[in-house]
Amino acid sequence: MKLRLGGFSAERVLRRFLPRSLLGRSLLIVLVPLVLLQAVALQIFYGSHLDELSRRLAGSVAGEVAFMIDEIDRDPDTRHLTIQETDAHFGFKTAFLRGQLLQHLPPPDAPGPVDNDLEYGLNTDLNRPFTVGWNHSADFIRVYVQMADGVLRIDVPRKRLYIGTLYIFFLWLIGTALLLFGIAALFLRTQVRGIKRLAVAAESFGMGRDVGPIRPEGAIEVRRAATAFNRMQDRVRRFLAQRTTMLAGVSHDLRTPLTRLRLALAMLPEIPPGEAADMNTDIEEMEKLISVYLSFARGEGSEQAAPTDISLLLDDVAVAARRSGAVIDCDVPDSLVATLRPEAIRRAITNLVDNARRHARHIWLVATSTSRSLRIIIDDDGPGIPAARRETMLRPFESADPGGTGLGLAIAKDIIGAHGGDLLLLDRPGGGLRVVIELPG
Ligand SMILES: Nc1ncnc2c1ncn2[C@@H]1O[C@H](COP(=O)(O)OP(=O)(O)OP(=O)(O)O)[C@@H](O)[C@H]1O
Ligand SMILES: [Mg+2]
Repeated sequence: MKLRLGGFSAERVLRRFLPRSLLGRSLLIVLVPLVLLQAVALQIFYGSHLDELSRRLAGSVAGEVAFMIDEIDRDPDTRHLTIQETDAHFGFKTAFLRGQLLQHLPPPDAPGPVDNDLEYGLNTDLNRPFTVGWNHSADFIRVYVQMADGVLRIDVPRKRLYIGTLYIFFLWLIGTALLLFGIAALFLRTQVRGIKRLAVAAESFGMGRDVGPIRPEGAIEVRRAATAFNRMQDRVRRFLAQRTTMLAGVSHDLRTPLTRLRLALAMLPEIPPGEAADMNTDIEEMEKLISVYLSFARGEGSEQAAPTDISLLLDDVAVAARRSGAVIDCDVPDSLVATLRPEAIRRAITNLVDNARRHARHIWLVATSTSRSLRIIIDDDGPGIPAARRETMLRPFESADPGGTGLGLAIAKDIIGAHGGDLLLLDRPGGGLRVVIELPG
């Protein structure tokens, strides 16, 4: 059952206002109970305690005022002395306004917070008219009491009626809350850092980058995840290495019998020449494939970079593709020279054009350059590769074609990457695949 708040589900509202990061959420989990707890403590302390305290303070001030007036009443002649003495005792500042009447003095102002308590106290303790003024000064409260021959003006320090520690108490509450928040944030950051690092490492590793083992840190579960990730990474790397070694081994071992086959074929005079040529072509094809596997397994090692005319190279590839029946448009500048390993780049582009030829009817080759980079685009009008599968298709041995080895794109990407460039699979506007190669110029 879902809670609904005016058309919005509570879950949606919560999700909208909840922090998105783990750190934010964890801090919220710590902070909300903390603030609630303090609010409850504050309510309990000030709600009940403070009331009682202010009543008592007001009661004691009222008692002292009453005491002073009683003393004056007892002996009006020594009023002056009595006032001096009680003022010194209670911290009041008292003046006698001879002949004044309460009604003629400025009216008392708006009631303050302990107003009722003080007036209640004065009412019970004094048996005469009085008024209380709260806003005369920031330091004291003014009390007027009607005496027989004038008005007694008593300034009671506010400190006597309020609890001065209120702000300090608040500061303490806020201070401790901030302190706890800081400590929690510090601790939680370490935990979250472990998870974050793991996420980043897993993502890079998924993209085929070598991230190396990550350092386990944080809570035991996070550490376990990091250790498990390290172990997995190791296993996957070993597995890949094994596969490559096997590929190299098989390719290498196939070469010798293939060479023998070619020799044997050459020494068989009775085969009709046309058929011999076909068989030779097959064997050549096989040798070429094997050399591709081998160079993939070994890595593109030996070729050196040299200034190369990319336009010429692309034209060559286009001519070769047309020979095998492709419809291919080549739009390149007259000359576009860059320093790179020409055979490797030719292999990369040939692989891409081969792919396009296999899936599409029309191919477009475009090359452009800026002062800092070189861009080659290979477009086709085929079905393209769904965005979700592009990353997979760039990995070695990933193929969706029957008979495909799945090395074409991987080799191309590898070659471009080794040149410090990037190979991207995109959608061609108008349908089909667009391969963009960016090379540093
Ligand atoms: N231009 C393209 N249009 C549609 N799909 C493509 C295109 N290029 C590649 N693909 C898809 O990507 C997959 C991987 O391509 P890749 O070149 O790596 O391997 P392959 O062509 O299957 O084998 P290989 O090139 O090693 O002979 C292909 O199997 C194909 O499904
Ligand atoms: Mg291919």
